[in-house]
Amino acid sequence: MKFINSTTIALALFLTMANSPYSKANPDEGMYPLSELNKAGLKKAGLRISEKDIYNPGQVGLVDALVQVSGCTGSFVSNRGLIITNHHCAFSAVQLASTAINNYLKNGFVAQNQEQEIEAKGLKIRITDSYEDVSNKILNAVANISDPVERINTIKRKQEELVKQAEKQDPTIKAEVSEMFIGKSYVLFRYKTIEDVRLVYIPRQNIGEFGGETDNWVWPRHTGDYSFLRAYVSKDGKSAPYSKENVPYQPKKHLKVNPNGVRENDFTFILGYPGKTFRHRPAQYIQYQQDYLLPYVSNLYDFQNKQMEEAGKDNTDIALSLATRIKRNANVLKNYRGKLKGLRGIDLLATKKQEDEALAAFILSKPELKDKYGSLLADIESYYQVSNQDALKELWINNIYNSTSLLKVARDINALKIALGKEKSPQAAKALFDRDIQKIKTGIKEAYESYNKQADQRILTKMLQDAAAFQGKNQLPAIQTLQLNSATAAGFATEIINNTKLADQNYVLNTVLANADALQKFDDRLLNFQAALNNDIVTFAAEQKRREGVLNKLMGDYVAVKEIFQAKNFIPDANSTLRLTYGHIKGYSPADATYMKPFTTIEGIIQKGNLGLAEFDYPQEIKTAYLNKNFGPYLQKDLGSVPVNILYDMDTTGGNSGSPIMNENGELIGVNFDRAYDATINDFAWNESYSRSIGVDIRYVLWVADKIDNAHFILKEMGI
Ligand code: ARG
Ligand code: GLU
Repeated sequence: MKFINSTTIALALFLTMANSPYSKANPDEGMYPLSELNKAGLKKAGLRISEKDIYNPGQVGLVDALVQVSGCTGSFVSNRGLIITNHHCAFSAVQLASTAINNYLKNGFVAQNQEQEIEAKGLKIRITDSYEDVSNKILNAVANISDPVERINTIKRKQEELVKQAEKQDPTIKAEVSEMFIGKSYVLFRYKTIEDVRLVYIPRQNIGEFGGETDNWVWPRHTGDYSFLRAYVSKDGKSAPYSKENVPYQPKKHLKVNPNGVRENDFTFILGYPGKTFRHRPAQYIQYQQDYLLPYVSNLYDFQNKQMEEAGKDNTDIALSLATRIKRNANVLKNYRGKLKGLRGIDLLATKKQEDEALAAFILSKPELKDKYGSLLADIESYYQVSNQDALKELWINNIYNSTSLLKVARDINALKIALGKEKSPQAAKALFDRDIQKIKTGIKEAYESYNKQADQRILTKMLQDAAAFQGKNQLPAIQTLQLNSATAAGFATEIINNTKLADQNYVLNTVLANADALQKFDDRLLNFQAALNNDIVTFAAEQKRREGVLNKLMGDYVAVKEIFQAKNFIPDANSTLRLTYGHIKGYSPADATYMKPFTTIEGIIQKGNLGLAEFDYPQEIKTAYLNKNFGPYLQKDLGSVPVNILYDMDTTGGNSGSPIMNENGELIGVNFDRAYDATINDFAWNESYSRSIGVDIRYVLWVADKIDNAHFILKEMGI
């Protein structure tokens, strides 16, 4: 289907919904917080268990099997703390555990018993314990505050206060106050945490990352994006750092795996921790994304990646050190380009403008609303007019440190150096130095891990050239002083990177940072440049805070009055808190003359392999099993093969990676890991016609574990 305008889509959607057995209560909003589950219409859509089996305050429910694991989601699948999540969610921990000799990233890893499991460095787990609405406590505190900076400071202070209170009441939890609607509603969440996480079973890279960047954000997909971890606690059941003495954690609940999988049109739901969406924003926000943020960041990341790939092309060590940065950039950049395509395709901006105009007219038609919100839309417009004037500067500032590793090093060193300068006596300076130095060194070492001179120089050149060309309010005094133009920027970047002592990690760590005195005497041009830049950034940060305060009030009012206008309660945008979404296994039609089926199979792996591209390399064992039709009980007869990935119309976003996909009985049938290209725009507007997410079918996981990796213990532990 070609993209038609969204009014047509909405109409078509309305017509199909009216006579579809699958109609949702809110067809456009599907990330339900636990407090809203009863409004979701789950039973009507096909859920066979009771909503209370999913979540019932004070009782055990499916939500107790859910974990948040370093920005992703996972779920317990055994009573001994076994967790299933994505391969890409465990990626960094696998990389850290890998060496050239034991390359678990490349070859995969199967711990045949508990002793063989490896510490998953950097992975931590959170489990939602309970929550409580604290909107009144926060909003009452700002009810009479009109100064925007004071407003935002008070909100933040109040949040911290509530967190401290909750953690004092129950020292076994970590608390967090999440903003559900900007400036309008706040919920305090209590989390249990687990620090000791181990790698149990990781498929090899050409299964777990099959298709690489080429297939990322793409359907049809054939990626075995899964991995198994285990949570450990101390003998008395408490969270504790990694220790041999720790024992597997016994979750309150674990999910039952259903090895029979799903069929097309089956009802499914997902519990997980979606990160961030932007659906309750006015037209101007979409315009900002479309005109500034998405093109700027995607073009910059594209440029950065080209430089980093070039830097590593003949040197594996360099390539490895830049791999994570490149992968992260590539993921975001493709997502943003997908969003730009989607925004153009459905002309979301026009729809949003119409919505806002209708809202404005509604406000004017009701005297009581006119009193309270009469200037709201004009105020929003002027907010964006002001902030767009220096939008480029803001984007530049937000990206300068991830562009140039040595500037990041300079930033951390300067921060300490400046703090030392403010101390009243040499003794006090020394004490401060001793207190902070280890933490600073750790941060600096991290920056060096992905530092490459050639890439740094070229990327800094581009950043300086861009900044030198900025006009009006976008200008940065620190750059203006240098009087750079496009030609001289390159010379400046080369010279400053070539001559800085900061390029020498050993010198920095052992000489510059040897003691407070050495640091205070250290002088360097790059360091001075960063200090000048920092002045501009600090000045701008004050203005940013003022804007945050203004926006907080505006967005609170915007959503409040829109709820009155549309006479319904909204579902809050994703904010990394636990949510449920539901839908069905479903194909779609992303382009003229195409129809995409909702299952891929092992054949697809073989077909892609025939392209002869490195990213479609796959294990020979898969070919052998395929040729022998060794599909075992995982065969889906009508497909004549084992299903590999599945497609569905649920509402997911970044952070939902690793989320369990469950059937009508709440049994695990897959693991979410991606979205189709056209669905990247979900974050602004969800729509049944283009919104499709991608998961790995549990039958593929079981088949690979059984037939390819001989990880039979996993099947046994999950009760298969
Ligand atoms: N697109 C998926 C997600 O947003 C998978 C990312 C895996 N990383 C990658 N660069 N391929 O996280
Ligand atoms: N891969 C994403 C993640 O890491 C999920 C895909 C999406 O954004 O929907 O959370």
